[in-house]
Amino acid sequence: MKALITAGGHGTRLRPITHTKNKHLIPIANKPMLSYALEYVRDAGISEVGIVVNVGDTEIEKVFGKGADFDLNISYIPQKAPLGLAHVVKIAESFIGDEKFIFYLGDNILVGGIKKFIDEFEKDGSNCHLVLSRVPDPQRFGVPEIVNGRIVSVEEKPQYPKSQFAVTGIYIYDNSIFEAVNNIQPSTRGELEISDAHQYLLEKGYQISFSEITGWWKDTGKVIDLLEANRLILENLKATVSGDVDDQSTVTGNVIIGKGSTITNSVLRGPIIVGKNVKICDAYIGPNTSIADGCRIIASEVEYSILMDNSKIEDLHVRMESSLLGHGVEIIQSSTRPKTHRFMIGDQSRIRLS
Ligand code: G1P
Repeated sequence: MKALITAGGHGTRLRPITHTKNKHLIPIANKPMLSYALEYVRDAGISEVGIVVNVGDTEIEKVFGKGADFDLNISYIPQKAPLGLAHVVKIAESFIGDEKFIFYLGDNILVGGIKKFIDEFEKDGSNCHLVLSRVPDPQRFGVPEIVNGRIVSVEEKPQYPKSQFAVTGIYIYDNSIFEAVNNIQPSTRGELEISDAHQYLLEKGYQISFSEITGWWKDTGKVIDLLEANRLILENLKATVSGDVDDQSTVTGNVIIGKGSTITNSVLRGPIIVGKNVKICDAYIGPNTSIADGCRIIASEVEYSILMDNSKIEDLHVRMESSLLGHGVEIIQSSTRPKTHRFMIGDQSRIRLS
């Protein structure tokens, strides 16, 4: 079995971060989001991986290379334009050849890996296996209709969903999917929809089996989703303290502190991950926070946030929370007069003051 993983798109809902960074490289618990997909694929015993990237994008390849760090053999497949997920499958046909494969949307984060879904697919002997998750807002997703324990139709983002399930971004196929993606037509939004390919399979009498994710699953389109994914991954990490924590500090819960980091006169309430060479002084760091290498948090309070490397937070009078900070960001409260806010902010940044 091979794996096909998506890492393209434009991440428009995550601007300005995605002006300078591929969404799939945004860190979750201090690791690029895509590394979770690669780990899950490796842990399922797959070694041949194709990653689909926007044409001309070399950022992902610079980070993951040929996959040696993950014991994988990674190929990169460029997609010329965002023409839909079924189009992604279509352009990967020669890479996949005759093998069965797992198609994994790189912005989907879940707990517990994917091996059990592959086992289900093999056991059912179906042509296509969909992984479903019960969601409060199915109209945002591909939605299956289930009758007597079988999927009988799949619709993309229906106004009136026929079940409470989302089809998640984890699909397992045999090569009948290529017949489907080569025969469907673009939707009204001009894309070859993966749900239309599934509907095609059903209409042609191919078998679609499914599993339900009972644990946690998220597709990370918005900041709030990233923060939730971060919370979930942090909850499952084991505490290790390699940095220095002084006697005036209190560290409780699951907290990871990297080498060369110093915690002085501060309170840390896990789960938290602190990278290497971070300075935290006279500060409070609350649960579900990831702080990457080289950050400085001085006389400030930070909670439920993701900070990329070398950011600096100083003397904030109000606790910062639910925030996503890029590389080398500075937020400093000054006590000098006149009392003003001064900004230098990139396009489409969002700031909420209170
Ligand atoms: C895509 C699929 C949709 C699926 C979702 C899962 O939607 O088209 O069927 O439910 O991924 O993440 P998109 O995220 O591109 O809107």
